[in-house]
Amino acid sequence: MPEIQEIAGKYSALCELCNSPAEVIKRKKNLLVVSHVDADGLTAAAIVCTALERRGLEFQPKFFRQLDEKALSEVADFGADLVIFTDLGSGMVAQICHNGLQAVIADHHKPAPSEARPIAHINPHLVGADGATQLSGSGTSFLLARALAFSPGGNDDLAALALVGAVGDLQDMARGQLVGINRHILEIGRNAGAVSFSRDIKLFGRQTRPVFKMLEYSQDPYLPGLSGNEDACIAFLKEVGIRLGGERWRRWIDLSQEERASVVTAILRKGLRSGISNVKLERLIGEVYVLLKEQEGTELRDASEYSTLLNATARYGHADVGLRVCMGDRDKAFSEAQRLLGQHRQNLVNGLKLVSEGGITALKSIQYFDAGDAIMDTIVGIVAGMSFQMGDRSRPILAFARTAEGQLKVSARGTQDLVRSGLDLADALSRCAQAVGGVGGGHNIAAGATIPPQAKQEFLDLMDAAVGSQLSR
Ligand code: C5P
Ligand code: C5P
Ligand code: ZN
Repeated sequence: MPEIQEIAGKYSALCELCNSPAEVIKRKKNLLVVSHVDADGLTAAAIVCTALERRGLEFQPKFFRQLDEKALSEVADFGADLVIFTDLGSGMVAQICHNGLQAVIADHHKPAPSEARPIAHINPHLVGADGATQLSGSGTSFLLARALAFSPGGNDDLAALALVGAVGDLQDMARGQLVGINRHILEIGRNAGAVSFSRDIKLFGRQTRPVFKMLEYSQDPYLPGLSGNEDACIAFLKEVGIRLGGERWRRWIDLSQEERASVVTAILRKGLRSGISNVKLERLIGEVYVLLKEQEGTELRDASEYSTLLNATARYGHADVGLRVCMGDRDKAFSEAQRLLGQHRQNLVNGLKLVSEGGITALKSIQYFDAGDAIMDTIVGIVAGMSFQMGDRSRPILAFARTAEGQLKVSARGTQDLVRSGLDLADALSRCAQAVGGVGGGHNIAAGATIPPQAKQEFLDLMDAAVGSQLSR
């Protein structure tokens, strides 16, 4: 009970922070919305842009892989009356203000300490809430959008997009369901008739994949004897008594409650027999989020599939496509996003294969792989997170990839258990990157950096020591 009250207090404090910037925004003519190229960044931008559109305010969206000095000078050159930063900005408050920008920041990354004061800085960390699990960039932007509504509740439908962003940032992974301030947003979305949620199997593709394909492609949890083996999945389902198809392959959503229950029970039994830990199997079941206004059987109906569709656009330089989907295009932009999704899935499969063939090197307190040019720097973090599920969970994983500019991109991923033991990847990456002339940041459980390529070994040594000391505290 006290925990619920505490979260309600933080939620109210954040809503409060949104009121005065909303009044300022309403009076501006030429607005720039700057956001991040992933599912959370896209949904964050779409939420704010929709809120501005509904008020008849003029705006332009702009997306960046990261907000560095170069990006900031581009933003400054744009000459907007006001810049709204969503899903980024908190790490660069000083530089934003130093550039003379009139700025409202709605972010959830760990804020860098700074005396500088933009028009408003809205961030869960500033009210004592965790930005890795309790509120995403899109969630923070949603609170701002609510304050911008013409009439109370006028933008509550946008809660659905906020949840897609939170799920895209894997904020539901720690407890198998969204928690903290995200839960308030879930309530708002449910009351607005925009979302529903229930406990269900947490495998990817419930809306769009034939059931046997959903099992075959399962990565998290990896199901020995099923994952990666189509024939085995078909045989398994037949044995459970599931009809695979009639006129078309049956998807998870086509199965009755009883059929779903019997598949889950059979997977659990099989998993236990093949020695998967209870902890891993627990991840099979959890809360899933359905977008009620979207058509059944499409990626957009399920928050997790929606977020992957968005990553397939923005992380490949097509943020405009993802943004149009988020803002309602179900025609050209949606088909284009679906086409990109096919390529994205293939890239992830290829990336995982590369890691399993090339192997992961373990140091004392961290493990890493270097993808060189073989995995794009914008998706190497996703591959790192996925490959991590298959192997050693006792050390955080670092992945390197070369950027188009010849720099070295680092993506780091941890586990909830490691975070509980003191791991803070944002802190370690930002310090170690800075020490070798790079920049980094993010969250305790997932962070990234860009460093000069020649600094790789030194950076690894520093990271190994930094993580070692975090975990020994
Ligand atoms: O920049 P942003 O905050 O939107 O990105 C968060 C990143 O952290 C996402 O790439 C997400 O996949 C990752 N993450 C993770 N594991 C978690 C939580 C977040 O890999 N448990
Ligand atoms: O790029 P990647 O998915 O590994 O990013 C993980 C997290 O670290 C994201 O939240 C991202 O915004 C953050 N990050 C950062 N500074 C960087 C690179 C990534 O804050 N230079
Ligand atoms: Zn985010």
